[in-house]
Amino acid sequence: MNQANNRNIAVVTGAAGGVGKAYSLGLARRGYDLLLVGRTQATLQTLADEIVAATGRSVEIAALDLADAAQLAQLVQRLGADSSITLLANLAGVAQFSPFTQISGGKIAQTIAVNISAFTQLCHAVAPRFAAAGKGTIVNFASVLAFRPWAEFNVYNASKAYVVALSQSLQAELQEKGVLVQVVAPPATATPFWLQAGFSHENLPAKAVMKADDLVAAALIGLDKGEQWVLPSLSDSAVWDAFQDSRVNLVKGMMNGTVAERYIAA
Ligand SMILES: NC(=O)c1ccc[n+]([C@@H]2O[C@H](COP(=O)([O-])OP(=O)(O)OC[C@H]3O[C@@H](n4cnc5c(N)ncnc54)[C@H](OP(=O)(O)O)[C@@H]3O)[C@@H](O)[C@H]2O)c1
Repeated sequence: MNQANNRNIAVVTGAAGGVGKAYSLGLARRGYDLLLVGRTQATLQTLADEIVAATGRSVEIAALDLADAAQLAQLVQRLGADSSITLLANLAGVAQFSPFTQISGGKIAQTIAVNISAFTQLCHAVAPRFAAAGKGTIVNFASVLAFRPWAEFNVYNASKAYVVALSQSLQAELQEKGVLVQVVAPPATATPFWLQAGFSHENLPAKAVMKADDLVAAALIGLDKGEQWVLPSLSDSAVWDAFQDSRVNLVKGMMNGTVAERYIAA
């Protein structure tokens, strides 16, 4: 398992999830061998067998809990050491639909552990190696909720805003080094995500919810195009450009070293 074999292994966290299954299959169809990460060995093995049967690619599984520091460390070690791993797709995600005043401390800790800590450490495991090699791809699944928080998804919103912010920093640092850092920002998508979060997507207007297969197909086309930002449901890409411009203008307006008039004592 090394570059002399010209192998490209894609590591997918959340591989057995509602998006991860089809996304992993799509990567295999694009010629990647796979390392599928999730918590349940049997589910991962079933998925691996299906992908091998469909594509003939080599598929490994790693059954581990990303919220467990020791288990995460094993994966981090592999990602840092194995030069055949050329793509990391961070799909694992946890959410809880609950007022912040009622969410449990345990659920907060789990959300931060998976969506922020593990996500960051996995990016950190591959980034130096990808940069040194002058190639590699990191795909980070964020959410529309990173841009417009929904009160009952409080900690989740914030975790996905973190995914966006860290990804932007990595894009700025790694683009010049030949590394693609891609953010996928799905809208509400019909997967088991919602039930595990404690809110059924059936309560949303049907037209606001994307089919998982449509999301995956779009995300993979975004990957084929090498886009840094994949916004699968946004038809008018000028809206995104205007949003990015407005952020730049906001910061330009703030970086002037002077106090705005309304904050000067009369
Ligand atoms: N569905 C949506 O509406 C939507 C919208 C915007 C963004 N997203 C984001 O898109 C990504 C994929 O979502 P999805 O709809 O596929 O969600 P999903 O069906 O709930 O799958 C989430 C995956 O995360 C994995 N995971 C959770 N906690 C873990 C842990 N402690 N250790 C290891 N793996 C863990 C789960 O693994 P197990 O197999 O072990 O349970 C599961 O496979 C997520 O990052 C999500 O936040 C989803």
